[in-house]
Amino acid sequence: MKTNEEILSIAKEAAKNSYSPYSRFPVGACALYESGNTYIGCNIENSSYGLTLCAERNAISNAIASGETSKLLKVAIYSPNSKKCFPCGACRQWMREFEKGQKIKIVLEDENSKACLYDIDELLPYSFDLNVI
Ligand code: THU
Repeated sequence: MKTNEEILSIAKEAAKNSYSPYSRFPVGACALYESGNTYIGCNIENSSYGLTLCAERNAISNAIASGETSKLLKVAIYSPNSKKCFPCGACRQWMREFEKGQKIKIVLEDENSKACLYDIDELLPYSFDLNVI
């Protein structure tokens, strides 16, 4: 199983593939699954700005499209423009969708270039769920 530092460095490499001519804010992500497989994503912008795809959702989409069926354990996120590049609200909700009993961790690079971990519950408390009462 890859370490937090390893998935962060995969995210860092993925950020190099970013298509972000509008914001000039490249982001890379690496999703680690229970199988040990990892999937990369980068942000992809569009001249119709609202169509922009974030790196994290791209990585999760990549995993699903590749046929990954094990549990999502961690998502590492990296931007050369920002330390601790926290996921946006939409990406937090996407991660929550794939939490199946396990606790998904978000792995970021801190000010000292060390990996730091957050629990999805910390970043998205009281989240929406399709609970039927
Ligand atoms: N972005 C991501 O890729 N992930 C996030 O969680 C937040 C924002 C991208 C979208 C856009 O291309 C750029 O960062 C600036 O908002």
